[in-house]
Amino acid sequence: MINTNLTIARCADEPLPITHGRLMDFPDDPIACLRRLHAEHGNVCAMEEQGQRIYFVFGPEFNHQVLSDMNTFHSQFFAIRGSRNSSQRRLTSGLLSMNGEQHKRNRRMVMDAFMKKAILNYVPSIKIEVESMLADWVPGTERDINRDMTDFMLRLTSSILFGIDQPEVAYKIGHMIDEWVHLNHELGMGAFVADPTIAGRYGDLLAYAGKLEAEILDMIRLRKENSGGTDALSILINAHDSEGSISDEELVGSAALMFAAAHLTTAHSLSWTLFLLAQHPTEMNKFHREISTHLTGGFPSLEQTEKLTFVERTIKESMRVLPASSYSQRVTATPVELGPFKLAPGAGIVFSQFMTHHMPGIYTDPDVFQPDRWLHTNPSPYEYLPFGAGPRMCIGAPLAMLILKTTLPTILQRFKVSVVPNSEVSSKVISTMLGPTTSVMMRIEKQDGRFESQPVRGNIHDLVDLREIPVLRRAA
Ligand code: HEM
Repeated sequence: MINTNLTIARCADEPLPITHGRLMDFPDDPIACLRRLHAEHGNVCAMEEQGQRIYFVFGPEFNHQVLSDMNTFHSQFFAIRGSRNSSQRRLTSGLLSMNGEQHKRNRRMVMDAFMKKAILNYVPSIKIEVESMLADWVPGTERDINRDMTDFMLRLTSSILFGIDQPEVAYKIGHMIDEWVHLNHELGMGAFVADPTIAGRYGDLLAYAGKLEAEILDMIRLRKENSGGTDALSILINAHDSEGSISDEELVGSAALMFAAAHLTTAHSLSWTLFLLAQHPTEMNKFHREISTHLTGGFPSLEQTEKLTFVERTIKESMRVLPASSYSQRVTATPVELGPFKLAPGAGIVFSQFMTHHMPGIYTDPDVFQPDRWLHTNPSPYEYLPFGAGPRMCIGAPLAMLILKTTLPTILQRFKVSVVPNSEVSSKVISTMLGPTTSVMMRIEKQDGRFESQPVRGNIHDLVDLREIPVLRRAA
């Protein structure tokens, strides 16, 4: 259902909706900036500093325009591409930097590694990694769940993408890709603004890219020597179409992007879901009842996960309220009209999953975590888009869902998690991803099915209404 009232009608002589200000306000606090722009201007506007502009669009109609037309709206994910023959250029050349025919072809090939049949091969890795994480959990202790989920996903993503026969080598590459993504974020904001104050550190980034590329090329050689692997890289190496197979240069970009796209997005989704459940005892109770009914204490089989309908609703709702990918960007490739603006090629546009998911015209009480809303809510793909929408929609969505649907029940069958009272939980969007920027301290107990929320501090209260529904109803 698309709400047709969302676009603002504008007279020809009305001034254009433009905010003049620091463009760096956006990466400094993306959600605050998006909220301010939306409140001031409605569903389309621009922010301008010294003649440089970023355009912002909000809501399903503009999401549809920007996400469905790949010829007009190109993807350009990394700000710093490096020179033509550099490691940095090759590492930043994965799917999210490709457009047109090259994107279509590579996407088809990369998809092979994430189809239902292929992702079943990754189930043993998920089981090994979750068991190994939980082996360290001791009832009666406090743990930083954010750190646990980030480490767990670093190991799991490394083994899924690069294989389990050499876990430490795979883990080392994973770790390096994380460092490299972090450096990219520090040195350039998305694809739009390069901060001149840190220009001197480009050399560090380019040198690090050289080392990382050498490691990935070693791994590619290793995988080629030991053919028959079921990891994503081996599947990609063996993929071919009428034009042949993927070149080593393309493999380098694909490996880096797949890792970067999979690791923190899934880790954040795991952390947020555990946090939201812990702070909503009624929902945690429903979750626990369902897993106790259908599971027998161990890692769930695929048949068992299919019966976990409340678990599914919980994950969907968690990714609505706190979407790990909270905004993304496009660059115009041809002239186009965007609301009242006439854009020339090269214009940068931001759209936001977070803002769409919190629109009261689409979701009642949008800031409230309410998994059962999914019993009667059926949004269009441009109203609910945690994995993006249209022809560039996330190819890892089925894998991410598999990880979430097996890992969360495995944890919560064995352990009760509750937030450490009065701890701080804060968050910020870094490199398009909304994740905790503080520890998420939780007390771990043996699961006893008795749940209680706790007072927390931090800016998490700006993002989600942590009062439970019965409390809200009483207040109304
Ligand atoms: C909860 C976890 C995940 C979330 C929230 C997520 C979110 C997204 C989103 C929103 C996009 C579209 C970006 C855009 O349109 O600009 C995307 C694209 C992509 N994702 Fe994911 N993702 C997740 C997990 C994964 C995993 C596990 C992989 C596996 C490798 C993956 C690989 C990719 C790739 C390769 C693309 C680019 C697709 C293209 O351009 O055609 N993602 N993801």
